[in-house]
Amino acid sequence: MSTFTIDTSTSRATPTPVPGKRTTAPAIRARKSGGKTEQPVVMLTAYTMRMAQLLDPYCDMLLVGDSLGQVIYGLPSTIPVTMEMMCAHGAAVVRGSWHALVAVDMPFGSYEASPEAAFESASRIMKETGCAAVKLEGGEAMAPTIEFLTHRGIPVIGHVGLTPQAVNVLGGYGARGREDAEKKTIIDDARAVDQAGAFCIVVEGVLEGIANDITKAVAAPVIGIGASAQCDGQVLVTDDMLGMFERTPRFVKRYDDLAGRIGDAVRNYADEVRSRSFPTADQTYQPK
Ligand code: KIV
Repeated sequence: MSTFTIDTSTSRATPTPVPGKRTTAPAIRARKSGGKTEQPVVMLTAYTMRMAQLLDPYCDMLLVGDSLGQVIYGLPSTIPVTMEMMCAHGAAVVRGSWHALVAVDMPFGSYEASPEAAFESASRIMKETGCAAVKLEGGEAMAPTIEFLTHRGIPVIGHVGLTPQAVNVLGGYGARGREDAEKKTIIDDARAVDQAGAFCIVVEGVLEGIANDITKAVAAPVIGIGASAQCDGQVLVTDDMLGMFERTPRFVKRYDDLAGRIGDAVRNYADEVRSRSFPTADQTYQPK
């Protein structure tokens, strides 16, 4: 069943103001012209309707990342994430946003086998969620797939450098490109993805100099995460930057301490329930 067609008009999902014209893939691509980006692209992850509503006014793109495997489902990696998870959360984020371009990650195993398999998965994601783009991991090996998809109406975001779905090949989540051969591979990957038609490229977990070299070398906007402030834009996992977790990668800046603040609020609630000071007259119904 398509989650996209559920009627949410009476639910808390209804976005305000009235949905307008969304940011498009060509508009993001056009941010970089002649190798320069005047206005860096702002991107964050979103997995739920309400978070999408809160982020949308400030972001150019919302990414329904497969990081939801760890962040929402408590999985050990992104490998077990399914199409069903991505479609359900993708549809929720589209329902909660009206301005940002929503891109959905293609889960591990849904696109690597062939361009045709990738098309089947990507078209399902677009139909079921209403998103405007997909993201897939990989460099030169994925270039033919990116070309196949973009020529068939599917805007693609590339993802090179540290590619978490390849954790078992890479051997961990450490920064990449410390050796010359690996540095060259990452830059070649970015070039291949660019030439294949990706409208922007996520570069994750690489030495700053490599991110700068890639940003200069490719035509598409480079969206950095654990990369460089010189990239054409930045993305972070929202729960990380809001301080929902005690442990985060080194490249995360915490802009809040939501975990601490939730703890304080819930401790107050628990104290008031136990002392019978909640609910008060303000929260109870009396005869008229
Ligand atoms: O899955 C994800 O959230 C991502 C971002 C970290 C880029 O791929």
